[in-house]
Amino acid sequence: MSDWTSDPIREIVEDRERARARGDALVDVCYVVTAAAADRAEARAVTLRDVSDRGIGLLISRTSPKWRQLTATGTVMLLIHWPIVRRQYRIWGGTAPMEAECLDAYWRRKSHGSMLLEHYYTAFHPQSAPIASRDEFLTGIETLRQRYPDRALVPAPPSLAGLYVVPREIEIWHGSEERLHDRRVFRRTGSGWESTTLVP
Ligand SMILES: Cc1cc2nc3c(=O)[nH]c(=O)nc-3n(C[C@H](O)[C@H](O)[C@H](O)COP(=O)(O)O)c2cc1C
Repeated sequence: MSDWTSDPIREIVEDRERARARGDALVDVCYVVTAAAADRAEARAVTLRDVSDRGIGLLISRTSPKWRQLTATGTVMLLIHWPIVRRQYRIWGGTAPMEAECLDAYWRRKSHGSMLLEHYYTAFHPQSAPIASRDEFLTGIETLRQRYPDRALVPAPPSLAGLYVVPREIEIWHGSEERLHDRRVFRRTGSGWESTTLVP
């Protein structure tokens, strides 16, 4: 039997702390699933910045296909899997913008290379665009390195969006050793969450 709380966000926060303490390599990773067309879903790994009552915090380039897809539909699905603590979460929701100070705090944690890459999307080519060669890409990055030689002084480009996925529905899977897993889906109500047990 698993212990459940009545607040699925709190559950994810606490599970993440346990996963981090036990060295789960996926503790800062989630998978963002969007509908690119009626007959095409797209999923990709994205760095998980924050889990709190505001939602699930992510940084996404406005130049990217995923940004276009999630703003076109206004909805997004996230998948999180932390194998060390045997947890999976499937999260459906809308999005809300992240406060500027919060975005800046996450920006400051990025590596120099990651900051230059973010600028590349507006200075040269948008994220996921095809280019002639890897050399062309690296030449562009070198140009940006000369423009922004000091990591501490690189500004966040306006194309970088901070957003929260605001969950409407969260399905939590508690893995069990004998494979009789415990699953529950939580749906947001006006004041809190209602939950239903699912066949695993
Ligand atoms: C572990 C991991 C973390 C990643 N984190 C990010 C991220 O925070 N932001 C991002 O735009 N892409 C990140 N990526 C790359 C994306 O998976 C994806 O290739 C890229 O965002 C382009 O997606 P799109 O063309 O669907 O927009 C990450 C990839 C991996 C494997």
